[in-house]
Amino acid sequence: MAAPHEPGIVRRFFHWLFSPSVGLSVFVLLLVGVVVGATGVIGTQVALHLSGTDEFCGTACHSHEKFVYPDHKLSFHYTNRTGVRAGCTDCHVPHNYPAKIFYKAKAGITDAFAELNGTISTQEKFDKEKWRLANIVWDEMRENNSANCRTCHDPAAWDKTKQSEDAAKGHRKFLAGKATCIDCHTGVAHKEPEEPKSADKAASAP
Ligand code: HEC
Ligand code: HEC
Ligand code: HEC
Repeated sequence: MAAPHEPGIVRRFFHWLFSPSVGLSVFVLLLVGVVVGATGVIGTQVALHLSGTDEFCGTACHSHEKFVYPDHKLSFHYTNRTGVRAGCTDCHVPHNYPAKIFYKAKAGITDAFAELNGTISTQEKFDKEKWRLANIVWDEMRENNSANCRTCHDPAAWDKTKQSEDAAKGHRKFLAGKATCIDCHTGVAHKEPEEPKSADKAASAP
């Protein structure tokens, strides 16, 4: 009598995979859950990383590539004596979760619309919009006590004896809670925008 036909390895694997044996099914389910979960987490990290490089933020939008990035490249946070660089996201995106993901989603949508509308598509428009945009950033930083600056510059690590008299005086004000970094240090990564003269003032000027 011929031996009964043995199913192939693949079929046996699937049979095992879907077998109603309680112990194995729960284990397999957990394993699948872990793999799917890990893929989601790693995928999100990869997406956040790829969309968080200076290359991406500085060049994905034409207007950033043409005006914002070259402007930033002139600043001491881009190149300096020690070679420690602050990237766009170091200053502009919250460092904690889930705030980071919400901020990026919102900024992505706002920036994409602005790019499509050509909000800062020419030098003239950029010069005009710069003050308004800078104020959005300043407001954010005043609201969170310049949290992103403090991820690198830790006031607890200040050696005020090594700072100039002016700096130490300003920094005592910070420590007393009377001012935050951005109140005194604007224009540290871009050319400082000028406050526009109001239309009235311009019209009445001689
Ligand atoms: C990724 C880290 C990082 C972040 C974030 C960062 N900085 Fe800096 N900053 C540096 C480094 C490094 C230097 C020193 C550069 C050098 O060697 O001249 C510096 C220098 C400075 C200086 C002194 C510049 C000078 O005159 O020599 C000021 C002022 C300053 N940062 C303010 C800020 C403020 C305000 C923020 C937030 C808007 C900020 N930094 C965010 C790393 C950072
Ligand atoms: C009340 C104003 C004031 C506040 C608030 C303030 N600073 Fe300063 N800071 C100064 C002044 C003034 C100097 C000296 C002149 C300069 O470098 O701009 C200075 C200098 C510096 C320097 C250069 C130090 C050096 O020895 O070269 C760094 C870096 C700096 N500040 C970072 C910060 C950071 C980060 C914060 C927030 C945690 C902050 N400052 C808050 C006024 C202030
Ligand atoms: C060291 C912190 C820091 C870094 C790094 C940085 N920014 Fe900024 N950014 C600021 C601050 C502060 C302002 C508010 C205006 C000011 O003070 O110059 C600003 C303003 C802006 C504005 C409003 C327009 C303007 O020029 O004021 C845009 C757009 C912008 N940043 C995009 C970027 C991009 C893109 C990068 C990377 C290529 C970048 N920033 C890197 C701190 C930073």
